[in-house]
Amino acid sequence: MRDLAVSQGDTAPSLFDDIFKPTENSLSHILVINSSVSGQLSVSRALVGDTVQRLIDADPGGSLMYRDLDEHPIPHLASTTVAGVRAVAATDAELATRALSDTLIAELRAADIVVIGAPMYNFSIPSTLRAWFDHVLRPRVTFAYSDAGPQGLLTGKRAIVIESRGGLYSEGPAKANDFQEPYLKQLLGFIGITDVTFIHAERIGFGPEAREQALASARVQIAQAVARLVDNLILE
Ligand SMILES: Cc1cc2nc3c(=O)[nH]c(=O)nc-3n(C[C@H](O)[C@H](O)[C@H](O)COP(=O)(O)O)c2cc1C
Repeated sequence: MRDLAVSQGDTAPSLFDDIFKPTENSLSHILVINSSVSGQLSVSRALVGDTVQRLIDADPGGSLMYRDLDEHPIPHLASTTVAGVRAVAATDAELATRALSDTLIAELRAADIVVIGAPMYNFSIPSTLRAWFDHVLRPRVTFAYSDAGPQGLLTGKRAIVIESRGGLYSEGPAKANDFQEPYLKQLLGFIGITDVTFIHAERIGFGPEAREQALASARVQIAQAVARLVDNLILE
């Protein structure tokens, strides 16, 4: 198995061809999604790396899959492709979209744990991450409507979401402008992923000291989140 250490700014391997099979005693299959456009300087990528490292330390037999939405962007849905995820695919473009959606959903379905790097861009999530969700939220496949209302079909998973932000949104006057966390909670919950821990790295834009403090605070949050998650998995 490859060296699983992931440090700040590592370019994650493409997951188009990277599926690590779990060993017999492994607790987890982890899907890792990065979406920052900031490469080596990215806060969320560094913290995603820390999270993955902690998960692998806790479960050395665990398997990992990476999807880097900056390196390999998912196309936006268009009039020529939307039927691939929302209706009956007929044209080559629609069939290709359906195939990509199938692949992305299979990756997610296979995961016990999903780690998402989701920087705040314009008060919400990167458009590349939104394009990923557009391919993953699929009627009758990842969600369905029942008499009881919408029902998520990808249950039993845990997610850790790293939210890096230039400003402060978890408290104070800008809290009402946070369209990132409520949106991610809704998107994940809609497909059945309701056990989600959000890690905040805030005030990144307030100078080097604030940035270091944010990273240190986020690393404490990550250590706690991973310990809780691993405890829960062991108890199951
Ligand atoms: C296109 C773009 C839009 C951004 N919009 C916001 C924003 O609305 N609010 C905010 O607090 N920070 C915003 N930022 C700052 C990022 O959230 C911050 O730099 C964060 O560290 C990005 O995560 P990353 O380092 O993993 O890329 C924006 C950055 C970019 C590149």
